[in-house]
Amino acid sequence: MKKLEVFGVAKLKGQIKISGSKNASLPILAATLLSNKKIFLTNLPRVKDIETMLLLLKSLGSIIEDNKKVTTIKNNKQVKSFASYSLVKTMRAGILVLGPLLAKFGKAKVSLPGGCAIGTRPVDIHLKALSKLGVKYKIIQGYVHANAPKGLIGANIRFPKISVGATENLIIAASLAKGKTILSNCAIEPEIKDLVNFLNKIGCNVKWISKRKVKIEGVTKVSQSNYQVMPDRIEAGTYLIAAALTEGNLKIIGIDPKIINTEINVLKKIGAKIIQKKNEISIWGSKKIKNINIRTSPYPGFPTDLQAQMMVLLCKANKKSYIREEIFENRFMHVAELNRMGAKISVVGNKATIEGNIEFKAAELMATDLRASVSLILAALVSKGKSVINRIYHLDRGYEDIEKKLKKIGVKIKRFN
Ligand code: UD1
Repeated sequence: MKKLEVFGVAKLKGQIKISGSKNASLPILAATLLSNKKIFLTNLPRVKDIETMLLLLKSLGSIIEDNKKVTTIKNNKQVKSFASYSLVKTMRAGILVLGPLLAKFGKAKVSLPGGCAIGTRPVDIHLKALSKLGVKYKIIQGYVHANAPKGLIGANIRFPKISVGATENLIIAASLAKGKTILSNCAIEPEIKDLVNFLNKIGCNVKWISKRKVKIEGVTKVSQSNYQVMPDRIEAGTYLIAAALTEGNLKIIGIDPKIINTEINVLKKIGAKIIQKKNEISIWGSKKIKNINIRTSPYPGFPTDLQAQMMVLLCKANKKSYIREEIFENRFMHVAELNRMGAKISVVGNKATIEGNIEFKAAELMATDLRASVSLILAALVSKGKSVINRIYHLDRGYEDIEKKLKKIGVKIKRFN
């Protein structure tokens, strides 16, 4: 099994170019199923989840050419409408093919993604909303068997809870539905805005009509286009936190600071110095890290995908901090491993209490999910000696070239197969 050796203590210095966003690429790739024409995508990150989505699209019949810079996707008329468990189980975003398949073919059989380390992660909101567009579905042996006997028909839908995936699935599905759909209480993550920009570029008609409300006028066909995926704000946030943690100095390039305003403000409050320019952020970590209380929430709130990384930083704060995890019920899997490294974090329900002034100690560790894995690397950066992180396949799902990027900014890190 692959593992990483990380040597601390490191002080990061240099420049990092942010890769394309995994969470924007996934729904955009799913949405290519709407088209019969060629779609040219650039800036897809080379990470495992994207590979899995490309395999899923191939299994559905998409013809994909990939030359590192441009990914060309063409869907023949007879794309299959069956998404197997073997592909969807490793990546929950597999459920995002349900909406486009129903929109295009009026039927789909898609595996349920199942649970994962950070919580049960149901898809009830996706399914209930799709049923309002005229979809009938049954769940049989772990598969959603869905069809729309009269085709998808536009409707007014209010999501009972803000869900990134359900918002994406419904926007894509409604793009080919008959008539108008209004979706309210939508997630408004920048990745969803990127999906909407992509859909409009291929000829769909999607408009934001208020903060969490979107109007989709169904179209009958979509056109050929090229599209550049937005940068990864979670990757950017991770490197900014790494700089703040190690009293480092990094320049993060290729991302608009406005989309991570909340994270930048939090880092300023804990004492980091930050200068923002167009598509560039420079950070200087401070010797003294101030404590802060954080609550994760849907965008524009503090992202759950940076909670684990932030927790490591707060272990070095001058006083006790609290983090409330409001999105996923079980997203504290990293706590046990961090405590093995000397952290003093206690969890009651969804609230973590983090003691400050911790001296981390290098250890052999086990990664449990994508963001937990990277939080262990961060802790290893400030631990004297060699830490070994096992099960890093989680990390490879979402961070492009992480070792290469870390080496470039001064980290001693090695991978073993
Ligand atoms: C997406 C992101 C993930 C991020 C999360 C929250 C992708 C590929 N993944 O995941 O990195 O952590 O948003 O920002 O973009 N829920 C239900 N029923 C549903 C759907 C969701 O109860 O049908 C619940 C979930 O269990 C969770 C909450 O709603 O508690 C939010 O989940 P959601 O926004 O849907 O997350 P994902 O789209 O899975």
